[in-house]
Amino acid sequence: MKLPRQFFAPLAIGAPAPLRELPVRLERMIHFVPPHLDKLRAKVPELARQVDVVLGNLEDAIPVEAKQAARAGFIAMAKAVDYGATGLWTRINALNSPWALDDVTEIVGAVGDRLDVIMLPKVDGPWDIHYLDQLLAQLEARHKIKKPILIHAILETAQGVNNVEAIASASPRMHGMSLGPADLAASRAMKTTRVGGGHPEYKVIADAQGEAPRAAYQQDLWHYTIAKMVDACAAAGIKPFYGPFGDFSDAAACEAQFRNAFLMGCLGAWSLHPSQIAIAKTVFSPDPAEVAFAKKIVAAMPDGAGAVMIDGKMQDDATWKQAKVLLDLARLVAAKDPEMGARYAL
Ligand code: GLV
Ligand code: MG
Repeated sequence: MKLPRQFFAPLAIGAPAPLRELPVRLERMIHFVPPHLDKLRAKVPELARQVDVVLGNLEDAIPVEAKQAARAGFIAMAKAVDYGATGLWTRINALNSPWALDDVTEIVGAVGDRLDVIMLPKVDGPWDIHYLDQLLAQLEARHKIKKPILIHAILETAQGVNNVEAIASASPRMHGMSLGPADLAASRAMKTTRVGGGHPEYKVIADAQGEAPRAAYQQDLWHYTIAKMVDACAAAGIKPFYGPFGDFSDAAACEAQFRNAFLMGCLGAWSLHPSQIAIAKTVFSPDPAEVAFAKKIVAAMPDGAGAVMIDGKMQDDATWKQAKVLLDLARLVAAKDPEMGARYAL
């Protein structure tokens, strides 16, 4: 076992020291760009002003014959645009694929100083993180990168879900984790063909009462995994995210899935289509009415201790802490989005 004091030591001579605290950044939507398509790459400068994170996707959904063009396209878009406070991420190919090694070595060599996070798909256990951690340290040292590149794991295999706690705490390079419902469904042999969201047949029905029609309530197929992921991430001090929602024609269902994840502790979700940017922005920015109530709690309990009643509801140290979560997030949103800032009146 690695000794605790070694945990924060650089893994290669000349690599930057691992971060002790994650950067505080707004990451409500991780917007996926297929970098091999010139037409979509041309929109990145405008996109970078609208979203919190731009991600160049190299993995699934990129055709095999376009893998190299996608990698080159990502390097081009990383060089061409000033991302400012917007995060720049890439999703590399899986570690067992023929492309992963070149993805990492070429990208870190060319634009490692601009890259914030590498999203690693199909993570089965901490060994996957350890491998990428060591490789990144070697490349950071070789290319004199000043700021460590962080790792974001996709939770999308049954084995990964089994090992989620060990993955979350595998390295100080861990930024967070996203649920990958499409691959996870396949890995678990779930009987679905969807990318995230519910299923009409996953439901409970009310007891029979004579001949009366029985009410049925659709349940959330992802509740268990999101809950497990949120606990693993929160305990390790890293960030949980919902991943993709594939039915672009159903904005209401996308919003409901994102909102369940937000309420359970997630900080953002992927946007795969421009229409999902606004959905993520609405869902992952706290509701102004909740923020107003949180302000009341903090105003009534300035030192965060004791108990008070507000609008008939008991408040104590624990609700004060919940209020702080909402207010800290609202402040982060307000700093980026003056319109939301005005609605929060912080
Ligand atoms: C995402 O990668 C997924 O498999 O859902
Ligand atoms: Mg996947």
